[in-house]
Amino acid sequence: MPIQPITTGADLLTLTAHFKSNHQTIGVVPTMGALHAGHLSLVGASLGQCDQTIVTIFVNPKQFAANEDLSQYPRPLEADLAKLESLGVQHVFVPAEGQMYPDGFSTSVLPPDVAGKLEGEFRPTHFQGVATVVLKLLNMTRADTAFFGQKDFQQVLVIQKMVADLNVNVDIVVCDIVREADGLALSSRNVYLCEQERMIALTLSKVLNHVEALIGEGQTDGYEVVTEMRQMLIDGGVTSVDYAVIADPQTLNTAESISLPVVALIAAHVGKTRLIDNRIIK
Ligand code: PAJ
Repeated sequence: MPIQPITTGADLLTLTAHFKSNHQTIGVVPTMGALHAGHLSLVGASLGQCDQTIVTIFVNPKQFAANEDLSQYPRPLEADLAKLESLGVQHVFVPAEGQMYPDGFSTSVLPPDVAGKLEGEFRPTHFQGVATVVLKLLNMTRADTAFFGQKDFQQVLVIQKMVADLNVNVDIVVCDIVREADGLALSSRNVYLCEQERMIALTLSKVLNHVEALIGEGQTDGYEVVTEMRQMLIDGGVTSVDYAVIADPQTLNTAESISLPVVALIAAHVGKTRLIDNRIIK
């Protein structure tokens, strides 16, 4: 029988009360749907580590700015449910907007300082929306463990710090970036790319490969590496670069001199599509 999504907070509470009374651990995988193998790797990790897994699908309007792609964001719910079912997922929370943000909703999480850099410069309200919805989802699912992808590197830092600062009793597990065979990081937004843009999009992971090799060969001049990253992105045909940096993996501070570990992070537009990718270099 196809999965019947849970749609209300009240039904979720009944389910999680049952899990808790049976002393079962709860894993949550928060998503915005349009599920691909990257999302499914998080689901696999949760199924492997937790007694019960709850996948959430909610395209969170609070993390999209007015000029962003909220209305076009793909919402293939039936296909998503079929994918989850084939993995053996039994519990999927798909709330309507009114369940998450009923009339009069007015509280939000002011995200930690690390939210202000990089993505925060280009999407100033984004992480406030993310932090608010993630805290709600953690509370609503009463999760013991929550699974996130390294693909959204800064998002992980924001959530880890929020959870620590606000004493949220949950373990955060970070899963590797899942890529296409040619290196393109999987993203729900890749469906926006036409064939030519898809080829250009590959530049992001090529640049990360190159940077990793350069640093592996002993390059420590951060300025030179970053200049080369930008140039390669432009030469590869990207429409514009929001940022291309080498930063400290904890603080996201950039440094003139590279000392490992670092993270290379890129956000760039390919046509109308904004793509991000990153690589930890140890
Ligand atoms: P979404 O973009 O749907 O991503 C859901 C989760 O899947 C995130 O933790 C993201 O990092 C992870 N993910 C995406 N692409 C991945 C890939 N190629 N490999 C591994 N993991 C990948 O991120 C969000 O939704 C939202 O901001 C959310 C946390 C759900 C809050 O609304």
